Order: sequence, then structure tokens, then C-alpha cells
Amino acid sequence: MKIPKLENIISDFPHLEVVIKAAEKSGIPTYVVGGFVRDVFLKRAKGDIDFVCVGDGIALAKETAALISAKKKVQIFKKYGTAHISDKGVDLEFVGARKESYSKDSRNPDVEPGTLDDDLSRRDFTINAMSYSLNQDDFGTFLDPFEGLKDLGKKLIKTPLDPDTTFSDDPLRMMRAIRFATQLEFDIAPETFDSITRNRERIRIISRERITTELNKIIASRLPSYGFKLLFASGLLQEIFPEVSDLHGVEIRNKQAHKDNFYHTLKVLDNISEKTDNLWLRWSALLHDIAKPATKRFDPKAGWTFHGHEDKGARMVPGIFRKLKLPLDERMKYVQKLVRLHLRPIPLVREDITDSALRRLLFEAGNDIEDLLTLCRADITSKNEKKVKTYLRNFDKVEEKLREIEEKDKLRNFQPPISGNEIMEMFSLPPNKIVGDLKNGIRNAILEGEIGNNYDEAFRFLIKLAEKKGLEPSKN
Ligand code: CTP
Repeated sequence: MKIPKLENIISDFPHLEVVIKAAEKSGIPTYVVGGFVRDVFLKRAKGDIDFVCVGDGIALAKETAALISAKKKVQIFKKYGTAHISDKGVDLEFVGARKESYSKDSRNPDVEPGTLDDDLSRRDFTINAMSYSLNQDDFGTFLDPFEGLKDLGKKLIKTPLDPDTTFSDDPLRMMRAIRFATQLEFDIAPETFDSITRNRERIRIISRERITTELNKIIASRLPSYGFKLLFASGLLQEIFPEVSDLHGVEIRNKQAHKDNFYHTLKVLDNISEKTDNLWLRWSALLHDIAKPATKRFDPKAGWTFHGHEDKGARMVPGIFRKLKLPLDERMKYVQKLVRLHLRPIPLVREDITDSALRRLLFEAGNDIEDLLTLCRADITSKNEKKVKTYLRNFDKVEEKLREIEEKDKLRNFQPPISGNEIMEMFSLPPNKIVGDLKNGIRNAILEGEIGNNYDEAFRFLIKLAEKKGLEPSKN
């Protein structure tokens, strides 16, 4: 791999020029390091630059801010000796070089000033421990004491020190190793992976938020299954997300086996990831069969069944989101809805299916109907390619039928053509159950296709329905 010249990097990231000036002015030896350098080599660097200096990182940050503008703010984290500047969409992160070790039972580091090599050695992976000097005496020198560049070429995630030491400094790095492997499509060095397996229980001291951030990055990758297989093989998945690892395994009874729901789920997740970057749609793929272990039964006649797993799964979603500190707002409700409805489009493939079944699904899925169909398509997995193709072709027909009905009946964002208030006024009724019954009656008639989704037909239907209940429209 060719080493890019610092001058060329500076022309793409002019903020480096400012930090070089600030370093010269303050006389603090400074280096650009970490993820930024790694990403320059991988041609994926964005606006997130880390600097380490042998001395006071906060002083350097202040000097840099003053050069950008008199009003530029520096965010200071005294406890960690770090500082942050945000400018024109670029984040500059400053830290003083440290020797650091974390106390065994907490994330609080004991920090001592150190050399550049000390600092690089206590970073997580060799590919994240490369740097360039920004100082006049050795300007632009590429410093790579742990041969990160070689590992980058070999596509390898490896710790600079004994992995047990690196992971014990910060156990979140076990998740980061798997996240980087998945994002970059790298291998994890065997001794590093063995150490994750050995130290997996140490993840318990890490906050849920930090774990979930890494998990989301795995799910957002091109091939998330790779990350989940690594999580499972190391035992980390069993620690952080047992509901998913419980999907693993096949049981055989009377010579009948069910499919392994862990690998099936991962296939669905990969399939959907080819079609969408929507994180929450990917989450719904991950959770669509989450209640299969809890609903599994063996019936000598029917074989293995998972009756009601879609409803139970939907009921499990809030608990999982709460535990993982995922948002409990409409994003959770969206995942819950897709899990609940994920089986519904499948029977619609049948020739004899009625329009009312299609209408009901459109009504329930609303604007999420396309996403639901994307999930269903992803859910069609089989070793037999031909079977999958036939099924997907039939599914095209379902989509066509749904489109026709949607065009005709506009049910996606269904609003009852006659409101409850109008019904109350029309029949001089107080707010009570009868009003609800009349409203539901209209809705069902529309969904069953007995009447169209418009005011006039709904009005005539309402009068008849009310009559049957012994109601008459009031005079005024
Ligand atoms: N780092 C570390 N241990 C951690 C977190 C970070 O050693 N638990 C070091 C690494 O050298 C890393 C740098 O700090 O490259 C910056 O961290 P961060 O911004 O979290 O990660 P990046 O490597 O930049 O990658 P990404 O932006 O994808 O998270």
C-alpha cells in the first residue's frame, strides 16, 4: 500500500494547516492519528480528525480555535484531558499523549502524560495506531510502530499490545473489533479473537448505549450477518443480546427438523440490507422471528409450529428496545408493526385471495406497506434458488394487486369518510358505544368492498345501518 504524502492530505483537509500553525506557535509536538489516518489510506476519510500532542492538548485546541476565529468555541473535557472543536462540518479532536490504564471495574481511566509511542500503544487496533508528524523537524513523517499499514494491507484487525491488556483497558473494544471487521470486511487476528472469547464477560461493565452504538454500526454494514456470526462465535452475542442467540439451533423430533432460525434471520437481514439503508427496517428483519423460541411446539401431525410468533414478537419489541436503550418513539412502533404484520402478505400470493384481504392489509400497514413488502421479500429464503424465484415472481403479482386496489380505494391513510362527531349530531347521540359500532360498520363495509371509500356511499350505508339499530336521523 502506498503511503500518501501529508501535503496531499492537507490539500483535501485544510483544517490540518491550521493545526500545524497552532502547533508551531505553541511549540507543542503534534501528530495526526487514529481513525482519520486509517480512513485516508482506505479513501473513506470524512470530517473527523484526531490529534495527539506531547503536552497540553487543551492548550493546543485553544490556540487552533483562536486561529480559526476569535469567537470559535472549544469544548473541554477536563477529566479526560481532551478538547473538541467543530468547524464547517469538521470535528477536530485533541488529546495529550498519555499512558493510560483503566481500573478493573470501571471505565474511569487513570491518566498519566506519556510519549507518542505510549499513546499509540494504548490505542485499540494497529490500524488505528498510525500517525503523521505535523512538526517542523520531521514534518510529514509517517509513524507506524505497530505495523498498522501491513495489517491494513492484510485486512486484519489486531491489537497493538497483548489483546488481553488492550481489551481490559476498555472492554468496548471487543465490540469495536467486530464492528470494524464487519464495516471494513476485515478478518480478526486469531489471538485477538481468542481474547474476545476469553474476556467476553467483561463487556458487562460497559454501558448499554455504547454497546448499542456499535451494534447499530454492525447492522448498518453491507453484510451484517458477518458481524453477528463473529458476535455469536465469540460468545459476546449471548452476553449482550441473548434473544438473538437463542434463535440458534435445530431440534429434531420424529425425524423432523425445523430450520435454524438464527441463520435464517441473518439471511433475511442480509437480504434486506441489499435493498435498504433504513436502520429500522433492518432492525425489523433482525427481530421478525424473535419469538420463535418462545412459541415453538411439536405436533406429531403438523410437525414444528411457531403459532403466534408474530404477535408475541411484536409484544417483545418494546422490552428489547428498552433494554438496549434504543428509542422508544415512533421508530420502535414502526419495528413493532412490521414484526406484527410480517406474515400477512405471504398468503396473498394465492390465486383465490379476495380484495377485502388486500384492503385490510393496506389499511393496517398504511404508509409502511412498501417496507412491509420489502421485509416479506427478504424473508423468502430457501436453499432451492428456483423455489425462491417462483415465490418472488408470485409476490410481484401481490404487489400489482395491492397497487390496483390502492389506486381505486385510497386506503393507505384511511380516514373514515364520516366522523364520530357527525354521527352523534346526525342521530342526537351522546358519545357512546353505538357511535363506535356505526363507525366500525362503515369501515368494515369499505374494507369488505361493499361500498366505496367516499362520503355519499358511506352516508347511505350509515342510514341503513342505523335504521337496523332502531335509530332515526334527528330533524334539524
Ligand atoms: N480509540 C481507542 N479505543 C476506543 C475508542 C477509540 O483506542 N475504545 C482510539 C482509536 O485510535 C481510534 C480513535 O481513538 O481510531 C478515535 O476513536 P473514534 O472516533 O471512536 O473511532 P474511529 O477509529 O475514528 O472510527 P469511527 O469514526 O468509525 O468510530
